[in-house]
Amino acid sequence: MSTALVILAAGKGTRMKSDLPKVLHSIAQTPMLVHAMRAGASLSPARTVIVAGHGAEAVEKTAKAEDESAIVVRQTEQLGTAHAVAQAREALAGFDGDVIVLYGDTPFIEPDTLRRMIDARASHDLVMLGFDIAEVQPRYGRLIMDGDRLEKIVEYKDATEEQRAIRFTNSGLLACNAALLFDLIDQVSNENASGEYYLTEIVSLANARGLSATAIKCAESETLGVDSRADLAAADAEFQARARADLLDVGVTLMAPDTVYLAADTVIGRDTVIEPNVVFGPGVTVESGATIRAFSHLEGCHVSRGAIVGPYARLRPGTELAENTRIGNFVEIKNAEIAEGAKVNHLSYIGDASVGAATNIGAGTITCNYDGVMKHRTTIGQNVFVGSNTMLVAPVTVGDGAMTATGTVVTRDVEPDALAVARAKQDNKPGYARKLFDMLKAKKARRDKGA
Ligand code: UD1
Ligand code: MG
Repeated sequence: MSTALVILAAGKGTRMKSDLPKVLHSIAQTPMLVHAMRAGASLSPARTVIVAGHGAEAVEKTAKAEDESAIVVRQTEQLGTAHAVAQAREALAGFDGDVIVLYGDTPFIEPDTLRRMIDARASHDLVMLGFDIAEVQPRYGRLIMDGDRLEKIVEYKDATEEQRAIRFTNSGLLACNAALLFDLIDQVSNENASGEYYLTEIVSLANARGLSATAIKCAESETLGVDSRADLAAADAEFQARARADLLDVGVTLMAPDTVYLAADTVIGRDTVIEPNVVFGPGVTVESGATIRAFSHLEGCHVSRGAIVGPYARLRPGTELAENTRIGNFVEIKNAEIAEGAKVNHLSYIGDASVGAATNIGAGTITCNYDGVMKHRTTIGQNVFVGSNTMLVAPVTVGDGAMTATGTVVTRDVEPDALAVARAKQDNKPGYARKLFDMLKAKKARRDKGA
């Protein structure tokens, strides 16, 4: 049986107090919508439909960047969750499997839970996902059960005091055959406390037709909905705690776990040591046995086995560090490959470049990659010694085994084994320093007397 996803993402998220649509706010530097899409993708869905409304253009852009085949439909007016799902009808024309409805603002749903929903469909026409709330709170629909039969869902606003005390509540996620789902939705009315078309009404509609509805349970942490910035921060903290625990579990050393900030897709191999206060942006992979020293910032890069990065290093997108490379303090690397055993130890900017194996880049070296209009590449060979404070004006190539003298501004290619020197010749003037000092001291004495 094939599956399709419908992800609801049209809401404004008023309580976020933001110009950005709620589902584009990030947890672990990844939009909530993308978290939901990734959980759903684990089911290899035949189609993924995203219902966008507020900020639809931005939502579409993010959705397409994650999954080019995702279909984004518009809900121009937010008339309720049932109305939102109805917008997916055309996009699912001809599809006759199961639809799983997900929320774009419920980022922590586990693939395993989605699979359990599908399994439960074998014995029920409609499967809702519920969770037990630890504390009774004035949100979430209450699931009215009779054994494992789900009778109806009552929204908090519409519930009696007795129903409000129920702790088994609705996550909003459901699984149902596509044709049946749209058929039930056609019957949903908006006669309730909010005047909205509630998706939850399909439960009583299914029961009225003699169909069977049930609700399965997941952990409250999985259905944690994000409605405010405080919820967002709490959700991020929860994500970080879990991701750090997972890293410790696979054999990564985190010297001060609480100070390491991870992205949703950070991958780190065993026996790598992460010192305190390291930030991982999206797209970082670190192999086994590397060391990331304190206060480093990494994004979109790959660090190979045995490399040592930092303290205070910044690796930007497109950085590839080969085995046993050394990147030291106050070094920024962008879109550059640093080959095995090469060193960039101090105060350098290496951008749009390749650095050959065992090459040493001296302190203060800059690849001048930008001419104000275009970016250019710098190619440095193997076993090169780049002297301190060398400016490499790209495009430029330095051959294998070459050297550049300290302070050289390299504007022409340097052939292999050559020494490039481009700086003013030094001229020592004997006794001049003493004369100059005497002159300056006399001048100061005259000034002090006059004052
Ligand atoms: C909904 C459920 C409630 C459940 C809760 C779980 C209904 C009627 N209620 O309530 O039982 O306990 O979620 O969090 O379904 N959306 C749209 N278009 C709309 C309305 C909503 O796309 O017209 C999207 C929102 O962006 C959001 C999701 O649907 O992602 C849920 O909407 P929301 O307004 O948050 O519903 P709740 O009141 O929380
Ligand atoms: Mg909500």
